[in-house]
Amino acid sequence: MNSARPSIRAVCCLGAGYVGGPTMAVIADHCPEIQVTVVDLNAERIAAWNDPDLSRLPVYEPGLDAVVGRARGRNLHFTTEVDAAIAAADMVFLSVNTPTKTRGVGAGQASDLRWIEASARQVAAAAKGHTIVVEKSTLPVRTAEVVKAILAAAQGDAHGDKTFSVLSNPEFLAEGTAIADLEAPDRVLIGGEGDAAIEALVAIYSQWVPEGRILRTNLWSSELSKLTANAFLAQRISSINSIAALCEATGADVREVARAIGSDSRLGSRFLQAGPGFGGSCFQKDILNLVYLCRHYGLEAPADYWEQVVSLNSWQQHRIARKVVQSLFGTVTGKRLAVLGFAFKADTNDTRESPAIRICRDLIEEGAQLAIVDAKVEPAQIALDLEQPPLAALPGAAPGGEGGWLPAASALEAAYGADAVLILTEWSAYHQLDWAAIAAVMRRPAWLFDARAIADAAAARAAGLTVWRVGEG
Ligand code: NAD
Ligand code: UGA
Repeated sequence: MNSARPSIRAVCCLGAGYVGGPTMAVIADHCPEIQVTVVDLNAERIAAWNDPDLSRLPVYEPGLDAVVGRARGRNLHFTTEVDAAIAAADMVFLSVNTPTKTRGVGAGQASDLRWIEASARQVAAAAKGHTIVVEKSTLPVRTAEVVKAILAAAQGDAHGDKTFSVLSNPEFLAEGTAIADLEAPDRVLIGGEGDAAIEALVAIYSQWVPEGRILRTNLWSSELSKLTANAFLAQRISSINSIAALCEATGADVREVARAIGSDSRLGSRFLQAGPGFGGSCFQKDILNLVYLCRHYGLEAPADYWEQVVSLNSWQQHRIARKVVQSLFGTVTGKRLAVLGFAFKADTNDTRESPAIRICRDLIEEGAQLAIVDAKVEPAQIALDLEQPPLAALPGAAPGGEGGWLPAASALEAAYGADAVLILTEWSAYHQLDWAAIAAVMRRPAWLFDARAIADAAAARAAGLTVWRVGEG
């Protein structure tokens, strides 16, 4: 580790979300001499970051409460006073949301850069002296050009004693393992022009990241590497899910295939877990952004290639809903189904683009009555995602009822009167369920659809359930 102290004294981060909050907490923890202020326009979110009860932070991440508990109030601050925090900072991270555009040019594919542009304008207006502006959000390649143009306009204005450098420093953390990923990253990527700014950021990371893991590139390589990393990771999931379907049709087992191919050191064993399709706020958005960029540069074949990764993912999600309907004698109308897991993966309360959303919507559309339980997702969030409030009570199991959903407090409660249990998120609690107790409260014949292949299938079969596991022929 580098013993040289960072020259930066005060850092500000715009955006107190899944990335801004944990990333800045870890920087503050490792660099006690730097004042780190995280700002957000969302006052409710900031209040939750300041909640004395650390179990109520707005982001659930294992280990985050301890890091925030150590640094908050010492050199880690959460506030809505955006301008003051920018003015005091030598370095400003932009960690705002960059979702897919929903209207206008590029709708459905291009990234919506309105929050990045607004935050760059805010930095341009409020900064004092020299400020290093760091793109932490995931951005289309060449966005730094836009950021620089906005900052340059302020640099030249009448009051102008301000100057700026722009760096790209994309974040590679995964939700659920954010703290471990930030503490021991595979690499830290810093793209930029001008050694001084790059080295100022290197000096921060090198307080805990070995020098050999800090990569320096030009701005455009850094921006594009982030999109490429997510595209390659998502591509592996679509690849294994396509093979899972073929396994089911042929009697092969996708876990055996994954082990066999993953033992090849050229392929590696990670990200070969078949499932209900990838979710999360970024894979789909970032691939669609890549597709849009390829088309923008006239590269139709690469655009079509990457688009298929997303199409296969949607197909997999619909396929699982169809599988349930077909297995339950072609209809789920009026039938109760227990859904275990709604978050897009275990160990997070995030439901953005969760496969559970599409699968549950398909089943509700078919008339099913879902009892949904999740370890961390609140019923209010499920209602938002499904775009409908919970039913007052699940009506009787007689066919003919409208589809709907209700929250359940436990897997056992969800299973009452249900024809099937669906596992959609791999929460550790669902690895060891009491299948005898669950089967006893279900209607017969009863099924287990394990879209994550984590349950004890032998125990479920022994309890009398018919078991379907993703990728098992
Ligand atoms: P998020 O929606 O959780 O948080 C973004 C926050 O920015 C919101 O709270 C919003 O209110 C705030 N904001 C917007 N405009 C602002 C402004 N002008 N000033 C202050 N605050 C403002 O998003 P996130 O999941 O943290 O993602 C942020 C970026 O990081 C995205 O580009 C995403 O692609 C990227 N990323 C996310 C992850 C992840 O795991 N979620 C991982 C790597 C990279
Ligand atoms: C992903 C990347 O892993 C991070 O490196 C990146 O920083 C982040 O996106 C981002 O840019 O937002 P995240 O989406 O939080 O992180 O979580 P992952 O562990 O990648 O899982 C994504 C989805 O793929 C989940 O729904 C997960 O269940 C699914 N998945 C993952 C599989 O179906 N199979 C696997 O083998 C791995």
